[in-house]
Amino acid sequence: MTYKFFVLLLHYQTGAKADEKKNQVRLLFKRSDMQVLGIESSCDETAAAVVTSNKEILSNIVLSQLDNHVPFGGVVPEIAARAHVELLDSLISESLIKANTSLADIDGIAVTAGPGLIGGVFVGLVTGKAIAASANIPLIAINHLEGHALSARLTNNLSFPYLLLLVTGGHTQLVEVKDLGDYKLIGTTIDDAVGEAFDKVARLIGFQYPGGPKIEEAAKNGDPHRFNFPRPLIGRSGCDFSFSGLKTAVRRTVEELSSNNSPLSSDNINDISASFQKAVIDVLLDRTSYAMIEFNKRHPHTSNLIIAGGVASNKMLRDSMEKITNEKGYLICSPPIELCTDNAAMIAWAGIERLSLGISNSFKFPGRAQWPLSELKGDLV
Ligand code: KG4
Ligand code: ZN
Repeated sequence: MTYKFFVLLLHYQTGAKADEKKNQVRLLFKRSDMQVLGIESSCDETAAAVVTSNKEILSNIVLSQLDNHVPFGGVVPEIAARAHVELLDSLISESLIKANTSLADIDGIAVTAGPGLIGGVFVGLVTGKAIAASANIPLIAINHLEGHALSARLTNNLSFPYLLLLVTGGHTQLVEVKDLGDYKLIGTTIDDAVGEAFDKVARLIGFQYPGGPKIEEAAKNGDPHRFNFPRPLIGRSGCDFSFSGLKTAVRRTVEELSSNNSPLSSDNINDISASFQKAVIDVLLDRTSYAMIEFNKRHPHTSNLIIAGGVASNKMLRDSMEKITNEKGYLICSPPIELCTDNAAMIAWAGIERLSLGISNSFKFPGRAQWPLSELKGDLV
């Protein structure tokens, strides 16, 4: 790691035109065509991207480490961190080449500083700091959840405030996005995250991690009404979620169906997938409807809903959400699927949003395993 750090430093120092760069940094806030390099390494995707302030994604490379984790049935933090060390510097070079740019033209390094698996977060953050220091450009420490929260502003003409349904492998949140860095949590899960529920149920029915896309695929051939799985908290006021009871109900069904030790038939797998997916979507729709009411109490004249995070790439969720938002006079506006799952373009974009307001961070900025969105406001002042 130390060796790699110094190789990186040397590599980028020779390429950077330091004096020229200093002048560029001074001019930064007058320019409308900033380029920011984004780095993401908080889970099992190693990613780098170059994005401009004109909302052009010049490069966006995501390397999945899935093959390394499959034998263990989930992401192993130590394996993930080592893989980021192996992959990151060549991935960054590749993203600069693909973007047809060089560090001399990059105005800032935006890097995920948490929340996430802390080993991976450190790898990305130290790399980002090394590049920013050697090229003499600002470092912008990005909260990964803020990356998801702002991703729709990269691809759509969307202004603050808006309501966000954030659905990832580690988080299920309804958030009032008031302004950059100003987030009010309206609802959250009281147990499992929705992506985690997809992954656990997938494992029960024999699918490898990550389970969400496989369940979505199997559900296409299944009957969503065959199993009447519970819809926790549905119809109750408030905007919180719960998924552990649903997961337990699926486990019982799987045990009953395979009580004579026979493997599940493909019909059973498809029907469980479809019924589980339907239950999850019903819960998400119900909780989001309550959140719309809450949101409109404070913002009666705005009605934009964003769904973001890996689970937001589920087409049935997107279609169902579109239906209820239309009914309620809301406009749904979500990033394209490739920007829903983890990527560095959303990190670079969050960096552009912050840098445009003159916000950057010191090289002492710590990596954080936990970092709630609601704690971000202090970073702006
Ligand atoms: O946002 P993300 O890429 O990483 C985190 O920050 O957690 O989300 C990953 C999660 C995984 O749990 C994965 O199973 C789930 O998103 N996911 C899906 C789909 N694609 C990914 N869940 C349901 N349907 C999908 N199509
Ligand atoms: Zn994520």
